[in-house]
Amino acid sequence: MAIALPELPYARTALEPHLSAATLEAHLAHHRACVEAVNRLLEGTGLEELPLEDVVRRARGRLFEQAAQAWNHGFYWSCLSPRGGGEPVGELAALRIRRGGGFGHSREEFNRLALGLAGSGWAWLVQRPDGSLGLTAGPGAATPLTGADVPLLACDLWEHAWWLDRHDDRARYLEAFWQVVDWKAANARLR
Ligand SMILES: [Fe+2]
Repeated sequence: MAIALPELPYARTALEPHLSAATLEAHLAHHRACVEAVNRLLEGTGLEELPLEDVVRRARGRLFEQAAQAWNHGFYWSCLSPRGGGEPVGELAALRIRRGGGFGHSREEFNRLALGLAGSGWAWLVQRPDGSLGLTAGPGAATPLTGADVPLLACDLWEHAWWLDRHDDRARYLEAFWQVVDWKAANARLR
């Protein structure tokens, strides 16, 4: 069973002016290349029939990197919406309050982690096994799928995520990212 490249859930221009169509195309080119690499590398591994999530959990080395990048991108698309932005909603908002410090504090902490990561990687809002919220960032194809946390929100920190729109200003990319975050989708992922 070949891994499929998921359709973008909105038009290429839908996230403008925050994220441009050219930037979405850059992500998609990377995403497509990862999916093609996964399908090549899967041959003969015995993992061919597994869904992508399970390939990520079980693979090592280059197959892991390509599979995690493919899964992370599909997840990233579902974290963004032309009707996104604002503040967390529903149960997620209540959890945020229990965590203390308010949404502004959490966003600053998320930005601090994202800006502090040297090179390419991902920043995540996750739900810990005890139900609390957590923030994490990791290099390369790092993904919560390899641990016990439930991914709620992903921010792509590879250079192609911001260079076309913001050049070397990762902080401005993060400002744009928060304008299109789909809090309803993040809330629906809570366990
Ligand atoms: Fe990307």
